[in-house]
Amino acid sequence: MKDPVTFYPGESGRGTGVSVLKNKASRRAFIKGVIASGAIAGSSTFLFGGIGGCSSDQPAAGAVERLLSLNVNGRVRRVDVLPNETLAMTLRYKLGLTGTKLSCDRGECGACTVVIDGVSTYSCSTLTHMVGNRQVRTIEGLEGPDGELHPIQQAFIDELGPQCGFCTPGQIMSTVALLEANPNPTRDEARHALSGNLCRCGAYDHYLNSVMRAAQGA
Ligand code: FES
Ligand code: FES
Repeated sequence: MKDPVTFYPGESGRGTGVSVLKNKASRRAFIKGVIASGAIAGSSTFLFGGIGGCSSDQPAAGAVERLLSLNVNGRVRRVDVLPNETLAMTLRYKLGLTGTKLSCDRGECGACTVVIDGVSTYSCSTLTHMVGNRQVRTIEGLEGPDGELHPIQQAFIDELGPQCGFCTPGQIMSTVALLEANPNPTRDEARHALSGNLCRCGAYDHYLNSVMRAAQGA
């Protein structure tokens, strides 16, 4: 994967120059169509895809749920899980922990990042059955005893990290894993730690500033 800090969708050079101006109207129509079809496809995944896994695949015929005990945010949660069910789906749709976001659903964007035994992990690419007794932490687990924000969350707000906010829980959970392992990272180390978290709003500098501010307060 390219470093999201330095990768811009237009850097290939395609779609630039005079030809774009000539084709402006048709491109606009094309983009409108893509957005419309993408919205329909995206919603149909969640409406009709069931909770078999992370994609629109249906559970395999005859697949049966098994009762598992998961340690999530310090609590043991008992939950019935299909063989092909991903952790993201279990967290969101069975345990109600919707702070973990689903976006690409294929291990490319980092929106679904949680921390498992101290390691930032894509929950959309992790089978719940493989988690076992490991400690899972989600954005909900950062809340203080009186509902106060975690210092990392506050640093993200102070540096205006969230724009639309969709990638923010994943960015924060990657930061949690980073700062627990390395409380005083360089900016390059922070960039590397968050390189698996894409931000469609392009707020990368804000997020890096947030990590460095959180590290100063750690
Ligand atoms: S939703 Fe998991 S990496 Fe994109
Ligand atoms: S703040 Fe919008 S995707 Fe990152």
